[in-house]
Amino acid sequence: MNIIDDFSKKLLFWFETNGRKDLPWQRKITPYRVWVSEIMLQQTQVATAIPYFNRFMSRFPSLDSLAAASIDEVLELWTGLGYYARGRNLHRTAKIVTSEYSGILPLNLEGLLELPGIGRSTAGAIISIACGGHEPILDGNVKRVLMRAHAIRGWPGERSIEAKLWKLAEKYTPTKRADLYTQAIMDLGATVCTRSKPRCNFCPIEDQCIAKHQKSQTAYPEKKPRKTLPRKETVFIIMQTKKNEILLQKRPQNGIWGGLWCFPEISSLDLIEAWRKELGFDGEIKIKKLPELIHTFSHYKLSIEPVLISCIKTTTPDMGKNNYIWYDKQNPTKIGLPAPIVKLIESI
Ligand code: ADE
Repeated sequence: MNIIDDFSKKLLFWFETNGRKDLPWQRKITPYRVWVSEIMLQQTQVATAIPYFNRFMSRFPSLDSLAAASIDEVLELWTGLGYYARGRNLHRTAKIVTSEYSGILPLNLEGLLELPGIGRSTAGAIISIACGGHEPILDGNVKRVLMRAHAIRGWPGERSIEAKLWKLAEKYTPTKRADLYTQAIMDLGATVCTRSKPRCNFCPIEDQCIAKHQKSQTAYPEKKPRKTLPRKETVFIIMQTKKNEILLQKRPQNGIWGGLWCFPEISSLDLIEAWRKELGFDGEIKIKKLPELIHTFSHYKLSIEPVLISCIKTTTPDMGKNNYIWYDKQNPTKIGLPAPIVKLIESI
């Protein structure tokens, strides 16, 4: 047996007794369920994704039901999962598939790659897991396994290294049982060939792993050369009525937290009065500064200065604009909220 077939066979054999086979998206496999699960799993661990996946499937059991939903409903189910562009892309893709593909996801690389939110690895995972198609995948776990097995130096996000890894992924993916192989190599990365403290004694390819022979497993993959993240500052205005309703404003679709509902923002504390005037809040108020929060995005850190403004008047001001709502914590409207906003609402 050549070394390539040997690698795949060992992995498939290992998967039979050690792989994960009862995850919610592995029951009743359909392209729709596999696609949603793969999008959720793009930046999220399995254990975190499970309850989100189950809620999503209860609310949107089919691609048609997802396409017919409002974006606010979709983002509400995404609240807390992060990387909200994934939720928006899922919704956009459902609409495109409904109008251009009669509601059936195209199960080929060219078709899937045209859809928002689906890159080559996700397309490969959908094609192989949903119908056993012969397409490789290359997510973070798979990159780690391959880089250790071959002792490949460098940062896996670098173009030349990624190209090398795709070549290896293609070579190892078997023509038969590609669905099981895909799941097997992801599971190996997630449960045995972990980033720190890999459990090499349990690894089916231990004897052919160069990093293991070199006793340098954790040196692979190398980290991205990191620049320090720039820092931005903002002030969140938490405007609260006598009835404990809180003013939220919908963010533009593009940019961070696109389409989610947040507190109104100003760039500095001196602008509170101007902001009040602009929105016509002329009643008596009480102002209280809350402790600073730091939220880290992938490309910058945001320092948030929250200010609680309590209205003394008993009537709720009419905002007269549809991108504002008064949010009632006791009886919440179904809308998507970023995690730091949920935290702040809960804290007051
Ligand atoms: N990460 C991405 N896709 C996955 C899957 N199908 N199973 C486990 N982890 C994953």
